[in-house]
Amino acid sequence: MDKILILDYGSQYTQLIARRVREIGVYSELFAWDINPDNIREYNPKGIILSGGPESVHADGAPTIPDVVFELGVPVLGICYGMQAMSERFGGKVESSGKQEFGYAKVEVTAENPLFAETPATLDVWMSHGDKVTRMPADFELVAQTSSAPISGFANREKHYYGIQFHPEVTHTAHGKTLLSNFVVDICGAEADWTTGNIVDRLVEDVRQTVGNDKVLLGLSGGVDSSVVAVLLHKAIGDQLTCVFVDNGLLRLNEGDQVMETFAKNLGVNVIRVDAEDKFMSALKGLDDPEAKRKAIGHTFIEVFDEAASSLDGIKYLAQGTIYPDVIESAGAKTGKAHVIKSHHNVGGLPEDMALALLEPLRDLFKDEVREVGVALGLAPEMVYRHPFPGPGLGVRILGEVNRDFAETLRRADAIFIEALVEAGLYHDVSQAFAVFLPVKSVGVTGDGRRYAHVIALRAVKTIDFMTAEWARLPYELLDEVSRRIVNEISDVSRVVYDITGKPPGTIEWE
Ligand code: XMP
Repeated sequence: MDKILILDYGSQYTQLIARRVREIGVYSELFAWDINPDNIREYNPKGIILSGGPESVHADGAPTIPDVVFELGVPVLGICYGMQAMSERFGGKVESSGKQEFGYAKVEVTAENPLFAETPATLDVWMSHGDKVTRMPADFELVAQTSSAPISGFANREKHYYGIQFHPEVTHTAHGKTLLSNFVVDICGAEADWTTGNIVDRLVEDVRQTVGNDKVLLGLSGGVDSSVVAVLLHKAIGDQLTCVFVDNGLLRLNEGDQVMETFAKNLGVNVIRVDAEDKFMSALKGLDDPEAKRKAIGHTFIEVFDEAASSLDGIKYLAQGTIYPDVIESAGAKTGKAHVIKSHHNVGGLPEDMALALLEPLRDLFKDEVREVGVALGLAPEMVYRHPFPGPGLGVRILGEVNRDFAETLRRADAIFIEALVEAGLYHDVSQAFAVFLPVKSVGVTGDGRRYAHVIALRAVKTIDFMTAEWARLPYELLDEVSRRIVNEISDVSRVVYDITGKPPGTIEWE
């Protein structure tokens, strides 16, 4: 398989470069710029992209380009800082622009060249830089300019080295994907074979090789990542996989049955369902502090999971739904430092004599790739493209102390809201939608008289990364219908409110 290596200089956009390259159909990974050069050689890339970064090439200890990058004889594309570092390296000049430049710029292509093939003579691009190249290195020619950065693109065609000052990986840059594709496919000659079908074949093969005849345990939550791991492992190793599904009484309406139906009944996966509602409810008794509740739910989960797991014999691996953004988040980029096999203590407190090795088959995949793999392996798109659901479940959506009745009321209200969104065709227009149970009482009048009952809050947000979010401007008609249905159908609710708080200052969940 042909691969592109992305050397990470710390730009907030580096992850996007990897995603775009993979969307083009070529596998790519992030490596820290100061990784051991042997790791780069071993990776054997068809081409290298140097990312942007926050530093100035003149700063003390500024990141540089390791020699190995230019020893491999492969094309190199420097983006922003990557371009400046390349310029420094080959004797060009980089100077401070005096002011930072963020936002749109018009780039003019000054010489026909393979990087800008199939793009117009001028294009709107996204700039984000302080320094700029003011003199090109010898052997480089100018290929693009803007009014504020006269050297916005350069090339050494003989060696296939290119540099651009702007960011082709962000969607604001018109034809950015064409530029990346020109580099990856045409200039590097990488074969675009990173397709869902190939990904599945490769994952299955890898799992079979790693696991051999051993047995694997998976905690199945019903969320996307663990669900995809379940179908993948089932395809790869069949009955050698056992899943433990803990029903904590804090799931969405019918969720437990759906998980069993999908995995055990339809797909034939070994799933042990542990009905642990009582245990969770007693663990939550008397707790109203959100963090204490989260802790109690976490601990109880581990207890229940361990108990179920310890009844199983001969398990060698514990599978987890870790995905590439989790890996990048913890390490930034591949650092070349020995990959620390996390002990099972990170997952739970499995008995000491059950020393399990960790199996993380999705750790190289982005979320959208995980979803596509899930669908290719036979999971229903409705499940794979479902809104995220927090680990502690309804436990953090029932404010204050949790009990069974509150959970039941919330489950029903939530289901009405989600059903209405789906029917209106708006479910995928929002990133996350749910109901929250407020344990306060409010007076209402219904057909049969006065009702003194609880309040349900509806929350729907739009967000890209869940770090910031805006409340969704849902149609009044829809909110009206949902509110009527909830109060009519659930006697324990007298009032419905809609949350119009953004994040910040609010969080998405209420606890
Ligand atoms: P907040 O409420 O922090 O949520 O704005 C951001 C995203 O994270 C989810 N979330 C959680 N997920 N365990 C989880 O697995 C948690 O304790 C938790 N708290 C929040 C939330 O649903 C949203 O998607």
